[in-house]
Amino acid sequence: MKLVLVAGDRPNFMKVAPLLHAVARANERRTAGNGALRPVLVHTGQHYDIMMSEVFFRELNIPDPDINLEVGSGTHAAQTAAVMVRFEDVCRKDRPDWVIVVGDVNSTLACTLVAAKLGIPVAHVEAGLRSFDRTMPEEINRLVTDVLADLLLTPSPDADENLLREGVPPERIRRVGNIMIDTLVANLPRARARRTHDRLGLEAGRYAYVTLHRPSNVDRPDSLEAILGNLIRLSRDLPVVFPVHPRTQKSLEAFGLDGVTSPGLRKIPPVGYHDSLCLTENARLVLTDSGGLQEESTYFRTPCLTLRPNTERPVTVTEGSNRLTSLQSLAGDIQAVLDGPRRLGRVPDLWDGRTADRILTALLQTPNPSGPHWPW
Ligand code: UD1
Repeated sequence: MKLVLVAGDRPNFMKVAPLLHAVARANERRTAGNGALRPVLVHTGQHYDIMMSEVFFRELNIPDPDINLEVGSGTHAAQTAAVMVRFEDVCRKDRPDWVIVVGDVNSTLACTLVAAKLGIPVAHVEAGLRSFDRTMPEEINRLVTDVLADLLLTPSPDADENLLREGVPPERIRRVGNIMIDTLVANLPRARARRTHDRLGLEAGRYAYVTLHRPSNVDRPDSLEAILGNLIRLSRDLPVVFPVHPRTQKSLEAFGLDGVTSPGLRKIPPVGYHDSLCLTENARLVLTDSGGLQEESTYFRTPCLTLRPNTERPVTVTEGSNRLTSLQSLAGDIQAVLDGPRRLGRVPDLWDGRTADRILTALLQTPNPSGPHWPW
């Protein structure tokens, strides 16, 4: 069975890694040629900087991609279209039995559209998440991907409920758990060994870890300036380490804000995966607009403030250590975290490091939904 796995950007790499490893384990258990799974890893090239891409392949022990579409950056239409045109060629040549897409980025949507139109079954890992905010490009990607995918692999009960409410037949939905946590669990010893906070001169439990890259936060000068003001105020009480995403760096330079800083605010280039995990586990507080960090903080039970009006990952709030915040409430929310316990919440069900195996089981149990209607 040929499985094409698609990865486009930084958070996608953490989601395909455990799947590739699970496929390799499954193949070891089979005798050669006896129903072996043939994975084909397609990197769309949505992220291409070393620190946004290559470093994750090395750290996560992901084999080099079989195919790199090298699409690079662009407007949403240009990027999505470039992935579609190039991925269509891949599908026509390789004729996969399944296309497996992960997450909610432009590559996820583009490859789903291509496969669906060619009649190739699509499995979506991390299906059913909804922010109910269509100003977020990822929400559009999630909605369209889930309408088209044949097998919807969900991380949490809210995702199942969203899909059922949207009319998805229950037999297409399989709750498998959180794939990001597979990667986290597998990499924890190496992440802990990094002692990243020590190397940055920070004390465990005595710093804030900040990541921001959402257009709604960083693409407007007024909001970016206000965020920086808050970080500078916080840094007077608590050192702040702030790895700057390329999108955020561009905005800082374009708005003339790159020089706005303070002694306690440590702006550094994007960090690798192990460093990020280590910084998350040991932080007193995480402030982010990333999806993955909300989940990783929840696993570590590190208090997390998410600078967004909504989250597509509500279990991180209802069960985990996450809380939504805004520019208006940020200062008070930070103080509440600092006055509260160092660890918060609980780890949700099926966030156990075994999601990739459940995904393979689901794939192998699902009859080929396209069957004889394939165009070839
Ligand atoms: C993308 C995803 C977002 C995800 C984020 C994680 C979409 C719609 N967005 O957002 O969901 O949370 O990745 O990082 O798919 N750039 C570089 N080097 C790179 C990649 C980008 O310098 O390797 C620059 C680009 O020139 C661009 C900016 O960073 O101006 C933003 O990149 P883009 O791919 O548009 O989206 P992200 O903000 O990274």
